[in-house]
Amino acid sequence: YIILMCFGSVQLDQLKEILEKAELEIYIEETIPTVNPRYKLHYHITPPVGWMNGPNGFVFYKGEYHLFYQFYPYDTQWGPMHWGHVSSPNLVDWHTLPTALRPGNEQCFSGSAIDNDGIMVLLYTAHQATDDAPFYNESQYMAFSIDGIDFHKYKGNPVVILPPTGTQDFRDPKIWKNGNFWYVVLGSKTADHRGSVLLYRSKNLLSWEFKSILAESSGALGYMWECPDFFELNGKYVLLISPQGMVGRGDRFKNTYQTGYLIGSFSYDTCQFKPEINFQELDYGHDFYTTQTTENNGRRYLVAWFGMWESLHPEDVDGWVGAMTLIRELDLVGSRILMKPVEAITKLRLETIIEGEFHHNATIEFEKAGEIIVNIDLSENIELEFVGNNGGDKTSLRWSVEDGKVIVDRAGDVRQGTWEPLDTVTWRIFLDASSFEVFCGEGELVFSSRMYPNGDWRVINRGPQSLHVVAYTLKRFQPE
Ligand code: FRU
Repeated sequence: YIILMCFGSVQLDQLKEILEKAELEIYIEETIPTVNPRYKLHYHITPPVGWMNGPNGFVFYKGEYHLFYQFYPYDTQWGPMHWGHVSSPNLVDWHTLPTALRPGNEQCFSGSAIDNDGIMVLLYTAHQATDDAPFYNESQYMAFSIDGIDFHKYKGNPVVILPPTGTQDFRDPKIWKNGNFWYVVLGSKTADHRGSVLLYRSKNLLSWEFKSILAESSGALGYMWECPDFFELNGKYVLLISPQGMVGRGDRFKNTYQTGYLIGSFSYDTCQFKPEINFQELDYGHDFYTTQTTENNGRRYLVAWFGMWESLHPEDVDGWVGAMTLIRELDLVGSRILMKPVEAITKLRLETIIEGEFHHNATIEFEKAGEIIVNIDLSENIELEFVGNNGGDKTSLRWSVEDGKVIVDRAGDVRQGTWEPLDTVTWRIFLDASSFEVFCGEGELVFSSRMYPNGDWRVINRGPQSLHVVAYTLKRFQPE
């Protein structure tokens, strides 16, 4: 009664919402001290507590970047989906904001964000399951914010957007504006289980007209495509998709699920996309699935879930699970996407621990977080070993002259790719408390893998050549 008096004219359902929001934030604050920090990443986005999966709503809004993510605060496994929220002035220093969306009669599945004249608009998939487990309904909901912190669901949800026939899978809207129209791509599948991306157009954000099937799997590209994205890069069009159900082929498509791209031409008149290349994986590592991109100042930035469905997460006994990769800047050369770590990442450098020769069997030690730049002579084999100072799984990063391949061998689980440097012959390696990313050359080959050393990192040069390296310790942007 007293609370009601305090809020004066605030309506009961609004009051309920305010209290539930506050309760969740109090729960998160009170649970943070129980998290075991041993594997908690220092300069990657992780959930404060609980579970994180795919990135959502990457947008530049009122001078800051905002990123949201699939979030379940109450357990270290997937559960009813919320949207966690972080923001950053520079794509490197991130701070946690209150949880943006909580499930209501729907779970808040993946989606995207736009700045519509100072109002941040979120468009996301409302996933509604009946008691009859295999049947669910996916429609698209909208939420708004005028400050980028507090979000309100649109009372008229769902927005009017025709679902495909023959499938209940219709999710992960990615929205953008072109001319006077809004466009959205959605991930789906055909009635005979082939992944597809559907394109819609709207004048008012609320009612959407189906325009085209932007792309469709012939079968070889899997049974379902999640989290599509579509944008122009250096005069070509890029369709990012995350297919499920692809079969591995040689070195390729070795993870449970893939994320990659098609490059082609597109016309807003016909809404037809004509791919010019076969599907390419974006990242060759063990843990990279579903992406979000945003554009600001003519640059296209990408972030991915640094994880994968059905992977083991040793941190799940520590009170948290899941992470985002470093933010990458995209470039397109020919028909190939290059990924470089965002420029501002150099702000994290604390001290130079070595600059010069890194001899055979020498060791570099990092307290959890570091960066190594290795200049490479491709005429000789290379082998770097990564292990905890108290043991744990060993990983080796190799260059094989004979195969012309870069190899990441995580305790016997190998990912590898052919490397023909475009320009610089360097590796840029980022180590965090339980992660490893290597960017080869200009970003023509990138591996992102979670790794779990016992204690701090030790890097040992096991190869025949003495390498020229620069190594830095990196500072954390987030508290333990
Ligand atoms: C991948 C994904 C999306 C879905 C969400 C559910 O990020 O499977 O397709 O919307 O996760 O958490």
